[in-house]
Amino acid sequence: MSMVISSGLPAPCSLLMATLMLLIVQAQSFTRHYNFNVQMANVTRLCATKSIVTVNGEYPGPALVAREGDRVVVRVTNHVAHNMTLHWHGVRQLRNGWADGTAYVTQCPIQTGQSYVYNFTVTGQRGTLWWHAHISWLRATVHGAIVILPKHGVPYPFAAPHMEVPVILGEWWRADTEAVITRALHTGGPSDVSDAYTINGLPGPLYNDCCAKDTFKLKVEPGKTYMLRLINAALNDELFFSIANHTLTVVEVDAVYVKPFTVKTLIILPPMCSSPPSRCIQRPTSTCRPLST
Ligand SMILES: *[C@@H]1O[C@H](CO)[C@@H](O)[C@H](O)[C@H]1NC(C)=O
Ligand SMILES: *[C@@H]1O[C@H](CO)[C@@H](O)[C@H](O)[C@H]1NC(C)=O
Ligand SMILES: *[C@@H]1O[C@H](CO)[C@@H](O)[C@H](O)[C@H]1NC(C)=O
Ligand SMILES: *[C@@H]1O[C@H](CO)[C@@H](O)[C@H](O)[C@H]1NC(C)=O
Repeated sequence: MSMVISSGLPAPCSLLMATLMLLIVQAQSFTRHYNFNVQMANVTRLCATKSIVTVNGEYPGPALVAREGDRVVVRVTNHVAHNMTLHWHGVRQLRNGWADGTAYVTQCPIQTGQSYVYNFTVTGQRGTLWWHAHISWLRATVHGAIVILPKHGVPYPFAAPHMEVPVILGEWWRADTEAVITRALHTGGPSDVSDAYTINGLPGPLYNDCCAKDTFKLKVEPGKTYMLRLINAALNDELFFSIANHTLTVVEVDAVYVKPFTVKTLIILPPMCSSPPSRCIQRPTSTCRPLST
């Protein structure tokens, strides 16, 4: 989902110019190549260092950026002890079904030491989606943004933002998340709750003193418009998002532009809906996202 926040006047936008550009610029599409190495990394949060599964040692993982119409080729190599897959959440995968990355649905998990090449085109979508591990609870730390820009030369249907920033909401566990889900499955009860909520992997100052430095900060200039590409990567929790003394204008949901509307607070649902709330759409992967927030 993308939204723009602004504390000033939007930049003027000429419809005539936009139309001319559309006529002149030939849409070009490219193949975007990514190497995703699934590897362990030591990460310190809440005053303790933990070994977590990551892509390329990054937490959250690298953003995958493409334009509408591009082909994306991601070579995933698994260097960890877990068998796993990566899922491109919300990408329609028209005629690329086997690139969906849902373990035991479209493919067998990528085993330790093996590689798999995901090869798909991004068709008729533009906006913010995300990718994540699609097996057990590995997505707790194995996830990142998918940014789909409009075709080359095609402007946004709203004033161009000054800056675009992925904002990934997530959770941090002191414990090993694979142990947490294994225990929950054995007992049949609910899983333990996480120890912290995070923004772009950082818990912020709410938890204890050593977290103050682990705060996501975005320097903004008054009067400029910022597009936040908001993702809920939490495992089970609906999360609310608001910026003190600002309003948010939602411009896109699930890689579809929406008629912009302004809110003070948003709710974003987590990817898995065990009992789908009424505002979810069921996807073939049995994951769902809010229709409108
Ligand atoms: C993480 O830290 C442990 C203990 O210091 C070390 O043995 C291990 O090699 C480290 N792992 C990585 C991926 O750096
Ligand atoms: C990974 O998959 C292989 C083949 O199915 C299996 O033998 C192995 O036990 C799996 N590894 C783990 C850690 O589950
Ligand atoms: C990706 O798929 C296209 C279309 O099938 C094919 O031409 C291309 O060679 C594939 N690329 C890789 C790296 O597998
Ligand atoms: C929001 O505005 C109120 C009233 O002007 C002010 O008291 C408060 O400190 C502001 N909050 C933040 C986080 O800036």
